[in-house]
Amino acid sequence: MGFLLFGPTEKRNKAPHTGMAQTPLARKLYIKTYGCQMNVYDSGRMADVLAPLGYALADAPDGADMVILNTCHIREKAAEKVYSELGRLRKLKGAREQDGGRMILAVAGCVAQAEGREILKRAPYVDMVFGPQTYHRLPEMVARASRAGGAVLDTDFPHESKFDHLPGEIQKTPTNNAAAFLTVQEGCDKFCTYCVVPYTRGSEYSRAQADVLDEARRLAGAGVREITLLGQNVNNYQSAEEGLGALIAEMAKIEGLDRIRYTTSYPADMDDDLIAAHRDIPELMPFLHLPVQSGSDRILKAMNRNHTAGDYLRLADKLRAARSDIGLSSDFIVGFPGETDADFAATMKLVEDVEFVQAYSFKFSPRPGTPAAVMADQVPDAVKKERLAALQDRLNAQQLAFNRSCVGRTMAVLLDRSGRDRGQLVGRSPYMQAVHVDAPDENMGSITDLTITAAHANSLSGDLTVKSSKERASA
Ligand code: 5AD
Ligand code: SF4
Repeated sequence: MGFLLFGPTEKRNKAPHTGMAQTPLARKLYIKTYGCQMNVYDSGRMADVLAPLGYALADAPDGADMVILNTCHIREKAAEKVYSELGRLRKLKGAREQDGGRMILAVAGCVAQAEGREILKRAPYVDMVFGPQTYHRLPEMVARASRAGGAVLDTDFPHESKFDHLPGEIQKTPTNNAAAFLTVQEGCDKFCTYCVVPYTRGSEYSRAQADVLDEARRLAGAGVREITLLGQNVNNYQSAEEGLGALIAEMAKIEGLDRIRYTTSYPADMDDDLIAAHRDIPELMPFLHLPVQSGSDRILKAMNRNHTAGDYLRLADKLRAARSDIGLSSDFIVGFPGETDADFAATMKLVEDVEFVQAYSFKFSPRPGTPAAVMADQVPDAVKKERLAALQDRLNAQQLAFNRSCVGRTMAVLLDRSGRDRGQLVGRSPYMQAVHVDAPDENMGSITDLTITAAHANSLSGDLTVKSSKERASA
């Protein structure tokens, strides 16, 4: 096993928390999740691994027996947040110890993988540091952390797959109710020159189709109506000879599972089978997150993206030919090293040509260890800021235009959470728009037809009274 034991980081004079208790004590576990959906999935699975030890999820860190920060290293800002949160938690941990209790403080996820030992230097009160591929070993780590003798560090890329060691039992969590995530592929071999993921998540790995279908059936059996298949390059999913299109076709046969999505896709890996799945499988939602990053071929090459702007436009056409109502979403990076005004103009042009229904955009953030961090011609922050504002203006306008085009339409909305106001529920449209509606609690968890009554920048309002097609035509 790859545990490294460090010297004592603090005096541990309390009784250890683990043991062979027959009935596990009720312990409070608080997990704070940063970053992508895969981290949300991982956090849920950490809770599953810890449940047999008596840990139950709490919604605040106060008085918790264990706090896990499941971190993100994708951009500098995301990583820095972890250290400020650790500073706050240190006080809670101290208070807990003064009350005679003990709080195990853990840093998990991609910051843990990338910075490992450095975290223990900067925050020596942390008890456990472990990466995305080793959390199935949590029971052993907890046992070690509970004994006197220092912090536990486990940032291996083990030979065994964590998926073979995770419990079959999946707990309900706030992010795992009517809609849930399911990781089918993990890691990345693409090495885009700006990206830390190949270093933090390891090389590409696909789970066996039978395992994925088992997990999907268990989720559907527990009332999940919508599953989002996750992978860093999910469209490169490969189980035996079958790809993602075949997996989706099998998933669509599962009783009770009404909606399927997948994210995130690599444009160069979109194959014809998967495009055909958008045409043939009604359960596959008409919404696709397909990061393009830039509209300049020169920059795309420097990013090592393996596609041109033209390739992306042709792919968008193919997808629309397969499913005319598909909505495309994307990721953009502005201010990549060497990006000129002309390169940025090419990105703006691509945005005009494609028309996205939603998108994320970021200033290039140099990440330690990646080739782009040390490339010549780094773009000044003021220029990045200006370009980001211009890009976001256009993307926001496209999103609002799309949202407005939904007003008056009937949309099937999966109502999966409570709204801020009493009597209000919130759901997700086929295009992942948040839809607010006044509806009775009994509608929670159901897919309900709503008339869309208003469009906002980031959400829609809906009404339960679905208009007939005649009424809609005259509206
Ligand atoms: N700087 C800025 N954005 C980045 N992304 C990944 N790495 C970086 C970086 N170094 C963005 C990409 C990716 C999304 C998840 O984060 O757009 O698609
Ligand atoms: Fe990062 Fe590129 Fe892999 Fe996506 S495809 S995770 S951007 S290296």
